[in-house]
Amino acid sequence: MTSNLTWHKTAVSKEDRVRLNGHRSAVLWLTGLSGSGKSTLANAIDLKLHESLVRSYVLDGDNIRHGLNKGLGFSEEDRKENIRRIGEVAKLFVDSGQIVLTAFISPFQEDRNRVRALFRKDEFIEVYVKCALDVCETRDPKGLYKKARNGEIPDFTGISSPYEAPAEPELTIETDRLSIDEASDIVMQYLKTEGIIA
Ligand code: PPS
Repeated sequence: MTSNLTWHKTAVSKEDRVRLNGHRSAVLWLTGLSGSGKSTLANAIDLKLHESLVRSYVLDGDNIRHGLNKGLGFSEEDRKENIRRIGEVAKLFVDSGQIVLTAFISPFQEDRNRVRALFRKDEFIEVYVKCALDVCETRDPKGLYKKARNGEIPDFTGISSPYEAPAEPELTIETDRLSIDEASDIVMQYLKTEGIIA
């Protein structure tokens, strides 16, 4: 399928864009159970980055599944394709010199590793948004756990489909112990310590 295709080198490089922006580019890959706070945390970090004049953008599971990944379900195969596509989109954002935050359950270590392999070591930051299942289930912001328990949603992560916690994430953020402000500050501090932002 990729025969007769030629990769074009762009006139403006990632390094040029990074220089213009005044900060490095990277992906903050948030992974965690439904209701663990991925989207809330991603948006809180995004706002802090924006206020610090850093170019950033959030890719969010529910939103992307309305458009780009419309038609993909929650079988292992569909989740794998979902994450593969997001990995490629994240790579484009990183190439554009931005910090991209992805908020997907991304339950399988193998799929996350495949995405990690698309990036330089200092560009991929896996953030485990850790929250006990019973807390997520109590929060149940969209009423999905209730439906899953009633058998109305098949393959629901944590209930009838597995979640593999990251083996060696760059960051673990316990949202059942920290406020969203504390949690986003930890990530901001990490980005500063790693020299990604000033
Ligand atoms: S995945 O596993 O990474 O492909 O999932 P993702 O693209 O992040 O989509 C998760 C959101 O879809 C809703 N939803 C489900 N989640 C898990 N399992 C099942 N079966 C399911 N069906 C629908 C749910 O709103 C998830 O959003 P979050 O924000 O994680 O709660």
